[in-house]
Amino acid sequence: NKVLVLHGPNLNLLGTRQPEIYGHETLADIDNALRQQALMAGWEIACRQSNHEGELIDAIHAARLDGTAAIIINPAAYTHTSVAILDALNAFEGRVIEVHLSNVHRREAFRHHSYVSLRADGVIAGLGSRGYALALEAVIEDTE
Ligand code: DQA
Repeated sequence: NKVLVLHGPNLNLLGTRQPEIYGHETLADIDNALRQQALMAGWEIACRQSNHEGELIDAIHAARLDGTAAIIINPAAYTHTSVAILDALNAFEGRVIEVHLSNVHRREAFRHHSYVSLRADGVIAGLGSRGYALALEAVIEDTE
């Protein structure tokens, strides 16, 4: 079994980017913990980050063809703007879990709407990096 973890724009800056909102962990810390968790469950995992909408879409398209069972995605700011990422996810048949480090509903009004939530099977927001671990746990449990 295989899972794709996709991180959207600016998440490469985690650790130094507004740590009061997004925490002190780096993206490498988060991805390493997820790799460890996947390994323990006997799952294959690929973690990708891009600041480019089209690259995220290409990664979703690739996941349609390579046997990926689930996508865990933090689309970052594209959450609130990208019909194109929603459309790509609609063409993917596996499970989709949307993750946000911060509680987007407690923040500016423009963060309250998510295009990706129209497709997501589950959404986790506000639990920091633990949200990714919980998403992976759910994906693994749901697939077994
Ligand atoms: C985010 C929330 C988004 O509103 C924001 O644009 C991000 C990160 C989060 O993980 O809390 O870049 O997706």
